[in-house]
Amino acid sequence: MPEYVELNYKGKQYKLPVIIGTEGEKAIDISNLRQDTGFITLDVGYGNTGSCRSTITFMDGENGILRYRGIPVEQLAEHATFKETAYLLIHGRLPTWKEHRQFSVLLNDHSLVHEDMRSFYQHYPRGSHPMGILSAMLNALKSFYPELEVLEEEMDITVTRLLAKVRTMAAMSYKISRGHRVVYPRPDLAYCENFLNMMFDSPVRPYKIHPDVVKALRVFWILHADHEQNCSTSAIRIVGSGRVNLYAAISAGIAALWGPLHGGANQAVVEMLADIQTDGSSIQRVIERAKDRKDPYRLMGFGHRVYKTYDPRAKIMKKTCDTLLSKLAIQDPLLEIAKDLEEAALKDDYFIEYNLYPNVDFYSGIVLRAIGIPTNMFPVMFAIGRLPGWIAQWLESMNDPHWKLCRPRQIYTGPEKTDYVPFEQR
Ligand code: SDX
Repeated sequence: MPEYVELNYKGKQYKLPVIIGTEGEKAIDISNLRQDTGFITLDVGYGNTGSCRSTITFMDGENGILRYRGIPVEQLAEHATFKETAYLLIHGRLPTWKEHRQFSVLLNDHSLVHEDMRSFYQHYPRGSHPMGILSAMLNALKSFYPELEVLEEEMDITVTRLLAKVRTMAAMSYKISRGHRVVYPRPDLAYCENFLNMMFDSPVRPYKIHPDVVKALRVFWILHADHEQNCSTSAIRIVGSGRVNLYAAISAGIAALWGPLHGGANQAVVEMLADIQTDGSSIQRVIERAKDRKDPYRLMGFGHRVYKTYDPRAKIMKKTCDTLLSKLAIQDPLLEIAKDLEEAALKDDYFIEYNLYPNVDFYSGIVLRAIGIPTNMFPVMFAIGRLPGWIAQWLESMNDPHWKLCRPRQIYTGPEKTDYVPFEQR
């Protein structure tokens, strides 16, 4: 039986349909609000606004639940490979063994990048942030692979090409930035191992792949693989709604992810912890600054628009962090500072009142430090992990019969009608 809500305004009544999701979330469908009532809604930051129906990821912010295609992220982090998780998000189900093998072969076949791209990297301004480089290079992929993905099989190739090449592009950017020889992907290495080898192998010191490092990277990327309609995913859906190609839409998503309030937070957390270590600030002083509304200082890696309890990914990331550092016998002082900060914040009334808990970025940077990833590449690591989710969300929007050009409205609060004044009268 369809449900409705009633809107009463100045004696007029309007009935608006209610939509109920798989897990009982409710929405008021305002798709015809303006034409039926003359009203629009205003929701700065879209905290109360659903942009689409989606079958990909379910989040319950109050209970700290995250599921990809219905499977709890905890189970995927424990049992799945990153490739399996990517396949699950993009195709809507886990691959059979045969499909997984075929996917692996395709990823390897497409893992090289066009040799002309190297000069692109070499002439990119030295010292550029890796996210700016990655966003530019993703856009450039369209020029190197101009065939537009219109048919199903071409889409599969385009999607696999992106997943395969993004690792190579990230590692190539790192090697070239250090003036080191580029390491090519190897067909005998799996997805995570290949990336680590491309990043850290060198003729003078061959990289020894460590299973605990591979496991930590696998979990890191699975935890980042999708997160429903977050800022960068929404950017991709909005840019994609103009029917531009997938590479350009993903390039826009990378730009959106770069910001320190979003995917750039993992870099900002480690920089914050390093500053605390360097200037010797007390934990209490840091907490006080984070609470001071007159101070723009924020506890990076804390708080979330959706999670009003512990981010389920942060729990797994913290455990991964402890395990990896103990396996590698690394004592990272920043981890101790992070744990002290978490302990103090979770006992503080301000953080309790605002439901501010560690999010995925709070411990993730310490895992990446232990692996040897440079700090300014942390958001790139987030982007590689999020790529399958971005692709799945873009595909879902392209195949959604209800999807159309995204074009929000506004409430105008500027000057009333006025006339042009010639220079001599100003
Ligand atoms: C990601 O959306 C996603 O799913 C994103 C993500 C994904 O996987 O895609 O999960 C990845 O982006 C995680 C978030 C990473 N960002 C950070 O860690 C940056 C630090 N966090 C904050 O900037 C903040 O918590 C946000 C931006 C994440 C969320 O902020 P909201 O939902 O816009 O909430 P708000 O800023 O309105 O905060 C409500 C109150 C405010 O107090 P008042 O000014 O109203 O008095 O809480 C305060 C805020 O000042 N607050 C914080 C705080 N976060 C919120 N105070 C101190 N430290 C913080 N971290």
